[in-house]
Amino acid sequence: MDRRDFIKTCGTVAVASMLDASIFSNLLASQQDGMLKTYKKALLVKEDGSPIKEGDIKPHNNYIFFYPFVSTPCYLLNLDQEIKPVEIKLKDGLGYLWPGGVGSKKSIVAYSAICAHQWSYPTKDYSFINYYPPDKPSETTKKAGIIQCCAHLGLYDPKEGAKVLDGPPEVPLASIVLQEENGQFYAVGVLGEDQFDQFFDNYKADLRQQYGSTAKAKELVEKCIVMEVDKYVKSVIRC
Ligand code: FES
Repeated sequence: MDRRDFIKTCGTVAVASMLDASIFSNLLASQQDGMLKTYKKALLVKEDGSPIKEGDIKPHNNYIFFYPFVSTPCYLLNLDQEIKPVEIKLKDGLGYLWPGGVGSKKSIVAYSAICAHQWSYPTKDYSFINYYPPDKPSETTKKAGIIQCCAHLGLYDPKEGAKVLDGPPEVPLASIVLQEENGQFYAVGVLGEDQFDQFFDNYKADLRQQYGSTAKAKELVEKCIVMEVDKYVKSVIRC
């Protein structure tokens, strides 16, 4: 996809005014290979509906929200250190520039919580894919500060654009592009291989049951309610 098609497809012109200019120009200037998809700009809010502030995002807590669709889960993390941009290289010479963290310390990142291997994802009942904070390493891999999927031990590095550290996934988790504006946080797009088509195909029956129809599961969000994973998921499965 050339840049003109990309702009047309993703509505990038309209979104340019919403994104921080430097982030936006970096994203576009870096040969995104069609990996940046913009969606509705959605405010991140607390469960009481008020905008989430930086101080509400506790370091190394695993938070969940849904974006860009009402059914597609994402993880929000404050990694408590500056997270720098990283160039992500994919197969066949494709790649993209992951813009790093946001917030005053540039420590806040967000990723799709749909595993890039076989689409394990956090449900209300259980989650095999989780963040392991520095003080709670995985019992199996002994690694910490990672996102690990216990389905087949896929490991991702949230400090490096969710690059694959180990296991069967071949591509990073897709990242959620965050924008900070006057102390409030917005999700504005998805960067990377997003897995949404496979997710909707694979979990069609479950999603119909939960949301009433596939169309409802694919509704775009306008606000993202951010919750602690342990409150949303009954059984957080760590391995
Ligand atoms: S589904 Fe996550 S590693 Fe296989």
